[in-house]
Amino acid sequence: MTPLRVAVLISGNGSNLQALIDAAADGTLGGDICVVVSNRAEAFGLERARQAGIPAHVIEHRAFADRVAFDRALLDLLQGYAPELVALAGFMRVLGSEFVARYAGRILNVHPSLLPAFPGLDTHERALHARVEEHGASIHFVTEALDAGPVIVQGKVTVSDGDTAETLAERVHGVEHRIYPAAVAWYAQQRLVCRDGRAWFDGSPLEEPKIL
Ligand code: GRF
Repeated sequence: MTPLRVAVLISGNGSNLQALIDAAADGTLGGDICVVVSNRAEAFGLERARQAGIPAHVIEHRAFADRVAFDRALLDLLQGYAPELVALAGFMRVLGSEFVARYAGRILNVHPSLLPAFPGLDTHERALHARVEEHGASIHFVTEALDAGPVIVQGKVTVSDGDTAETLAERVHGVEHRIYPAAVAWYAQQRLVCRDGRAWFDGSPLEEPKIL
């Protein structure tokens, strides 16, 4: 099978990008990262991409009048790399309908909570405030509704009394780095598809997210 062409969109540190780069390098991703794009010039993930020899681009969202114009610039850039999958990895912009339609069923995101719990920002603080016993991370297909696309796989952490948002974030990051490459690999192997608004795995709709 030819390796899947994966574009990765970032905004910051890029530790999830690094996990994908490492999995591509050791052959477990089933794909190659063909381009990395950041909406912030200072994102450290750009350096990670360059270190790995991956083309790295900046498209500053602030340079555009509105989201539609930003999304179009992103679409134009990506078109040149012909990605088969777009992986959002700490990409802190909401993609609009044109972008989502162009890559329908081919966009993944990592979110730091056990969706549908805690969509949006500040998930660790909110998990602590809600006194949940379990927290974690989710990989989901991206639809137009924020953090609400079909969930594919989750990894859990147990919340303990002494946890802070920082300690939780660190453990959840560890989970993200484990489950994101796995989800991309399933997609590359064509075991995972998004159809009719659902995630399908090995030919059956996923009733519940997989747990890794
Ligand atoms: C991750 O926690 C991800 O779930 C969230 O933003 C963070 C990005 O971290 N959306 P990194 O840039 O991959 O290190």
